[in-house]
Amino acid sequence: MTRSIIIDTDPGQDDALAILLALASPELDVRGITCVAGNVPLALTSRNARIACELAGRPDIAVYAGATGPLERPLVTAEYVHGKTGLDGYDLPEPTMPLAEGKAVDFIVDTVMEAEPGSMTLCALGPLTNLGLALRQAPGISARLREIVLMGGGLFEGGNTTPAAEFNIFVDPEAAELVMHCGAPVVMIPLDLTHQTLTSDAIIEDFRAMPNATGPATAGLLDFFERFDVEKYGSQGGPLHDPNVIAYLLQPDLYGGRLINVEIETDSSLTRGMTVADWWRVTDRPANVLYLREVDVNGYWALLKDRLSRLP
Ligand code: RIB
Ligand code: CA
Repeated sequence: MTRSIIIDTDPGQDDALAILLALASPELDVRGITCVAGNVPLALTSRNARIACELAGRPDIAVYAGATGPLERPLVTAEYVHGKTGLDGYDLPEPTMPLAEGKAVDFIVDTVMEAEPGSMTLCALGPLTNLGLALRQAPGISARLREIVLMGGGLFEGGNTTPAAEFNIFVDPEAAELVMHCGAPVVMIPLDLTHQTLTSDAIIEDFRAMPNATGPATAGLLDFFERFDVEKYGSQGGPLHDPNVIAYLLQPDLYGGRLINVEIETDSSLTRGMTVADWWRVTDRPANVLYLREVDVNGYWALLKDRLSRLP
């Protein structure tokens, strides 16, 4: 029995590898990919998502263009991490597959409303603008969703965009607040977890040595993507954030966490986008998020290598 998912994304090298992992995994039925402005503007994220699909040999996947910017704020991008194109590090051909007709938000709403209740999972890898718009347009989708699994936020690791805020939440805190309170089961994969899944020279060389096209491309993308975090954190490698969302769906036993309350700071200019995660349950605010902190790092990399080795 495959699991039906929609991937909402702002590729970015790590998003692209998450898309590859999903498309390499027969357990998942990727119903479509919806793109959002984030790491780079929408024109590039919707280009990059199609590049990833074609690298995976899947030009059949429906890729939709979504929001060009956050619900209420100016767009903030991250070329300083991902490069000008958002996929710097390895030359991949321009996509030939067209964008799907129609709006991303309409695709999300229609797909969830037409699917069997409780059968659809939304995998959010970027700012949550598309999900926020879909919830505004059709609040009823939240009761029909199986889960929303998102990469975003942080508590013990602080922020990566400000001292308080992780990028995806920082870009669109209002959308994140809508998601946190929509009523659907929400699984959050924060920096507290993704800062454990660091690349290394050995891991990158394993990808580079793969006999397919995907392996060397992955190595090139990782070479570029990790350099910023290595300089910033002085760590051995860069945290490969987004594929954790897909890996969680494939092998949930690799992960651990707690059902807790998470609120989003939307007012303060100092801490806007902070995920106020009540890990120690010091408030009586209702638990609304499965907040993951533990990951089997070796299991994560083994899964990623195994699956990406199966691609063209
Ligand atoms: O903070 C990391 C997150 O922001 C990742 O999803 C990365 O792709 C960027 O979107
Ligand atoms: Ca992302």
